[in-house]
Amino acid sequence: MSAAAAAAAESVAAVAAREVSKAFGGVQALRSAPFAAAAGEVHALVGENGAGKSTLIKLLGGRLPPDSGAILLGGTPVRLSGTADAARHGIGTVFQELTLLPWMTVAENLLIGREPRRALGPIRRGAMAPRAEAVLAGLGITHIDPRALASEISLAERQIVEIARVIIRRPHILLLDEPTSSLVEREVAWLFARIRDLSAAGTAVVFTSHRWNEITSIADRITIFRNGAEVGTFDAIDEDEAITLMTGRRVEALYPPLPPVPADAPAVLEVANASLDGGSELGFSLAAGEILGIGGLAGQGHRELFLGLFGAPPLPRARVTVGGARTTIARPADAIHAGLGIALVPEDRKGEGLLLPLSVRDNLTLPILGRLSRLGVIRGAAERRMSREIIARLGIRTPGPAQPVGALSGGNQQKVLLGRWLLADSRILLFYDVTRGVDVATKHEIYELMMRLAGEGRAILFYSSDTEELAHLCHRVLVLRGGRIATELRPPDLAAEAIVAAAMRDADAG
Ligand SMILES: Nc1ncnc2c1ncn2[C@@H]1O[C@H](COP(=O)(O)OP(=O)(O)OP(=O)(O)O)[C@@H](O)[C@H]1O
Ligand SMILES: [Mg+2]
Repeated sequence: MSAAAAAAAESVAAVAAREVSKAFGGVQALRSAPFAAAAGEVHALVGENGAGKSTLIKLLGGRLPPDSGAILLGGTPVRLSGTADAARHGIGTVFQELTLLPWMTVAENLLIGREPRRALGPIRRGAMAPRAEAVLAGLGITHIDPRALASEISLAERQIVEIARVIIRRPHILLLDEPTSSLVEREVAWLFARIRDLSAAGTAVVFTSHRWNEITSIADRITIFRNGAEVGTFDAIDEDEAITLMTGRRVEALYPPLPPVPADAPAVLEVANASLDGGSELGFSLAAGEILGIGGLAGQGHRELFLGLFGAPPLPRARVTVGGARTTIARPADAIHAGLGIALVPEDRKGEGLLLPLSVRDNLTLPILGRLSRLGVIRGAAERRMSREIIARLGIRTPGPAQPVGALSGGNQQKVLLGRWLLADSRILLFYDVTRGVDVATKHEIYELMMRLAGEGRAILFYSSDTEELAHLCHRVLVLRGGRIATELRPPDLAAEAIVAAAMRDADAG
């Protein structure tokens, strides 16, 4: 955007950023980025992991002050002292990391600050749940119990409550940072109906997502960020062109070719009699160099299977053979010892999985601490050298190994998850939805990494909520349903539609 165009846009915008910049320590997250969203428009903000999208949303939403530059509302510069102050200006924000208080009920979280009260008096506790129920029903949500604790409901439900809490206040400016990353299609459709409703009433909506189909279906305009700077704002742009602008290079083929599995490749992991969700028993075998996909609708026992193979907790009654030897995997230490590594994106990054306050180095070397500590005094040096190597090999964007993982962008946190198992030299990799919330370019890097690992003879068990990934990145796919294997697909029958059809056909029949 030219300076003149930026000035014109900001004068009519409901919300705008004028030349804002923001640094965190040595990282320049935003550099004089212009941005403007008009009343009644849905404005998508796209860019790679770490491009500065969330930082801009935090500045617009009053969560953080800019280092320089200004936030403007209706053309007038404002100084927002916090999210409450932003709310007083009609700004409502759903941040990328959820903010519900886990020990409070859904109703208490939803109605915080607007609890039903007696005249001048205390909160009417008994009226909370019915009020919340009515509020949710008004938004078309009937499946979430307002009396449940926020910690008791699923991640998708928490995300929906988080969204509901903001939209019931009918903000003039609605900022949504990756609101769909944990939602399934039907829930996304629900959200988009609410967005259309608000924008028709004049709300300016700013929306971020890594899913291109969502962006094209909801956005009136698209602003692309790269390295903390705006590189263009468009009424329409096709995906290839957008990717080139986001990454600064062309991504030739999103899915790299699969290395062939040698005919004599030994089975490295064999599972028999595993029982998921109290369903019937299942078994399968995974060869060295093979990428075996696990597909199916959500909630069919995928996560249980992956965690179970890692002993967290173990699968009841399952017989597991690793490298030809019967192995008891009673806890993660057994799995690590047997050469298994698990990369599992925490459903809720704050709640489980990565140890966010710990450094990148500590997160990387966690599984091999035992081995490293036997090295005694040279441990510190070995740890630093090894983590530097992995950071370079995976292109993890961090100022250094000492950086807390929580301060990295989502995609870079994901790479730390993968990197730890390369350091541990795991022969069997359990990759569970590792590309969720990851930008296209990083996805491409992760795909190439998977192919390299398979080419080196490592075996990969791969689950993805993205069916296209399963179809393109696996030698075979097992479609799970009700805790059992409904179908096995191989080329030439291995296609996204076939995976969906297998999952659905069974769901209908069952
Ligand atoms: N609190 C923080 N401390 C240190 N660095 C930070 C902090 N927050 C963000 N950063 C850094 O600022 C840059 C921009 O991060 P930001 O979260 O805005 O990216 P993003 O575009 O939202 O990425 P993603 O798509 O992964 O959510 C990244 O390099 C990130 O590591
Ligand atoms: Mg973000």
